[in-house]
Amino acid sequence: MDHEIRIITTEDGSNSLFVPSMNETYHSTHGAITESQHVFIKEGLQHYCGLHKPVDVRILEVGFGTGLNALLSLKEASDLNVTIHYTTLEPFPLTTEIFSELNFCDNPILAGFENMFAEMHNSLWEESVEMTNRFSLHKSKVALQDFDSLNGYDLIYFDAFAPSKQAEMWEPEVLGKVRDMMNSNAILVTYCARGQFKRDLSALGFKVETLDGPPGKKEMVRAMKV
Ligand SMILES: C[S@@+](CC[C@H](N)C(=O)[O-])C[C@H]1O[C@@H](n2cnc3c(N)ncnc32)[C@H](O)[C@@H]1O
Repeated sequence: MDHEIRIITTEDGSNSLFVPSMNETYHSTHGAITESQHVFIKEGLQHYCGLHKPVDVRILEVGFGTGLNALLSLKEASDLNVTIHYTTLEPFPLTTEIFSELNFCDNPILAGFENMFAEMHNSLWEESVEMTNRFSLHKSKVALQDFDSLNGYDLIYFDAFAPSKQAEMWEPEVLGKVRDMMNSNAILVTYCARGQFKRDLSALGFKVETLDGPPGKKEMVRAMKV
């Protein structure tokens, strides 16, 4: 993406990014950390672990972006006492100039994780890296549409740009491809709760739940592969 990207500060004090050419942000302007923590950690990772009490969790993230979801998940792995194998897709990695300015670790929830955050961004693409004894990271510089995996995933963080900005990410064919990579009883979480998206998920055989969204967003979606 040869777009200009600007750092913004969201309402909880954490940074996000704004892409003027798309008129789109990477996170909710009501709070980047607050949104990620609610949608992906609380309603995704914590929910899945509470339900299945797994030893290992395989996560696939669509859109590594700032690395915020990955860092929060790394932190959560030790809190939940699970081992996370985290695969993340990003065809348009951020420059060092941008990611080194992000202030996520100023938030008490991520205090002390500065080095880990830099290490995540600096880690090689297409390689699995043991970040901690509970968290391995595999970054792939590839679009979801071109990604294939023999791994089955337990949890999908579907964090693409909104359907109004990047409609192709939310097409039933793409969602069906994601479904094929999920283990049975795996869940997909996303901030999007659009009617057509929910109908498409149901048509693909997901059990769809509409949950309360983070501040500033009425609803979000969690879908289970049944
Ligand atoms: C809403 S942002 C969220 C990023 C990230 N999860 C974060 O917390 O910063 C969407 C991300 O999807 C990435 N993206 C765009 N097209 C994609 C594609 N075809 N496949 C996977 N990711 C894509 C963008 O570059 C961007 O980083």
